[in-house]
Amino acid sequence: MAQLSPARPVLVVAAPGETQDSILAAVTAQELEAEVIVEPERLAGPWRTAATVIVADDQAEKVAARALPHREDVFLVGQQPELLSAWSAPLAARVIPLPEGAAWLGAVLGEGSSRTRAPVVAVIGGSGGVGASTLAAALAQLSAAGGASAAALVDADPLGGGIDLLLGAERVQGWRWPRLNSAVGQLGDLRGYLPVVDGVSVVSMARGAELDLAREPLAAIVASLRSWHSLVVLDPGRSGGVSARESLRLSTHQLLVVAATVRGVAAARELLASADLERAELVVRRTRGSLPASLVGEALARPVVAELPDEPALLAASERGEPPARGSRRRYRRTVAALVTRLTAGVADG
Ligand SMILES: Nc1ncnc2c1ncn2[C@@H]1O[C@H](COP(=O)(O)OP(=O)(O)OP(=O)(O)O)[C@@H](O)[C@H]1O
Ligand SMILES: [Mg+2]
Repeated sequence: MAQLSPARPVLVVAAPGETQDSILAAVTAQELEAEVIVEPERLAGPWRTAATVIVADDQAEKVAARALPHREDVFLVGQQPELLSAWSAPLAARVIPLPEGAAWLGAVLGEGSSRTRAPVVAVIGGSGGVGASTLAAALAQLSAAGGASAAALVDADPLGGGIDLLLGAERVQGWRWPRLNSAVGQLGDLRGYLPVVDGVSVVSMARGAELDLAREPLAAIVASLRSWHSLVVLDPGRSGGVSARESLRLSTHQLLVVAATVRGVAAARELLASADLERAELVVRRTRGSLPASLVGEALARPVVAELPDEPALLAASERGEPPARGSRRRYRRTVAALVTRLTAGVADG
């Protein structure tokens, strides 16, 4: 489970009112301490030592007048677009407009907190139907089963069948992607809002819904999930769209599932050349008469981290809505469990 250690406080420069309330709600949701200052002459010390500085738009002019030294992680927050754009450059601050940026504010604060952050793995199919979504679901399931802490599974594939179906979760109550996507509330611990199946928190898109990532909600959601789970698994799908690219950018680990056939390798090579997959490691999916894994690794010049057995029982299991970790045999589960161990072994950074 995520560990808390004493974090440096967040400096909040905001007078009492709606903006201050929103900022303090975000700080509290991340279990951080805020130091609220409105007198500009008291700013110099905390300005240097705070982990993150949040300045309300109507305080920006006063802060800028102090000519404080340049520092990282300053955010200008509020509801007045003209103030936000006027004072962003003088303060070297990134702008977070409210109320729509509240989730983003939470993510920013979460990044600055000392809470342990779980690894994020994106599972990508080197060709269609190779078992990427199934592996993503099985990783999350076996990670959740392996210890006290929970795993999260994020469906970011607008063209996929819905990963909640794969887990038999479509009838479990909870938020689905479009609701989170338009969330203007604070993203603290999301677990209470998400459907949980076998210990896996599921963030799922409604089928057929358009995905609008204009406000960076995927980054905000993933940042929140990382604070509260031991592993976050992303299923970006093969559409190559905005959610897929964002998923790859947010991942600390990338697994490319490659069918061990001549065509499978050729398709994977195309993908490796075009997509943002510099860090991808290979999971070789075996079939009858397939190529040796070592040959696949050589052909693609990437390390092979697992060989996934052909598991015919999975097809029937998925049709029944039975989660892959239950609907598969030991050999498949062992392979996936070894991958979980590899992903979570002392790599909670990035
Ligand atoms: N290791 C395996 N052996 C045999 N069948 C499998 C295996 N893994 C998954 N399958 C089956 O293959 C089909 C496709 O699986 P899945 O949806 O996970 O693939 P995908 O790579 O995510 O596909 P897509 O390209 O549509 O996203 C499913 O019916 C699934 O049950
Ligand atoms: Mg898929």
